[in-house]
Amino acid sequence: MIPSGQAKLAGVMGWPVGHSCSPRLFGYWLDKYGIDGAYVPLAVEPRHFGQALRTSAVMGFRGINITVPHKTVALGVVDEADEAARRIGAVNAVTVRDDGSLWGANTDGFGFMAHLRARAPRWRAAHGPAVVIGAGGASRAICAALCDAGVPEVRIVNRTVARAEAVAIALGDPIKVMPWIARTSALEDASLVVNATTQGMAKEPALDLDIAGLGKDAVVYDIVYAPLETPLLRAARAAGNVAVDGLGMLIHQACPSFKAWFGVEPDVDENLRHDLAQNI
Ligand code: ATR
Repeated sequence: MIPSGQAKLAGVMGWPVGHSCSPRLFGYWLDKYGIDGAYVPLAVEPRHFGQALRTSAVMGFRGINITVPHKTVALGVVDEADEAARRIGAVNAVTVRDDGSLWGANTDGFGFMAHLRARAPRWRAAHGPAVVIGAGGASRAICAALCDAGVPEVRIVNRTVARAEAVAIALGDPIKVMPWIARTSALEDASLVVNATTQGMAKEPALDLDIAGLGKDAVVYDIVYAPLETPLLRAARAAGNVAVDGLGMLIHQACPSFKAWFGVEPDVDENLRHDLAQNI
């Protein structure tokens, strides 16, 4: 559909931004629901980011997704931010309010949990400890979501232990830092293990994690989505564990923004997954 003069506008800011799947994802939903709207990639250099974000509001944009490397800086640019964004220290979606002010949100944790509940409906927070490998921005959002969901213990394991300790300080009680060397034993009574590192991505080595000691009812979740089936997920499926890929997290994290900016609660359908998987 060609946008009219009244089209609802949104976009994604990053530097570079060409890798972002968001234009395809939002474009799919705009077509599916026949919405008069447009969602565009916006390549914005870091030194212009604050000015560009403010200007987008003046230009009539309803919302902007934020991607690498602007997510942390965005928290300091918005007028207000939701609790998730403040705890995580990063914003991935900015909504322009009616008075022109900027509201920052972080929907990564929401996307993580929504996809977990969709793909592993029998998983319950109370079932036992969760192990999160990695301590970057994605890990922080996931750990916060798991704490909020009521997971009794969230074990965070990272190659650089100081980064894991920083997450523990930011999030508090259910977080327990374990050394990298103990990552295999950390899995023993876990009900969920999450790869929140970049290991397993195309052109990267597989995550160095032996899941042989993991219980058969445990869920294995890899936030990597290119490739869709990482070596970790292949090993999990072979062992009979429920394996959850990262593509659904990416799709689900976009749902609240689409609803806020275009007025429709979008569906996460298999066609969309297929379309994105073909084009990553
Ligand atoms: P994001 O914000 O997307 O989570 P990031 O901040 O770059 O990305 O974090 C990447 C994560 O992958 C980190 O936990 C990183 O570990 P370090 O903190 O020790 O750097 C992890 N990672 C990257 N390469 C790794 C490797 N070869 N082995 C283990 N972990 C690795």
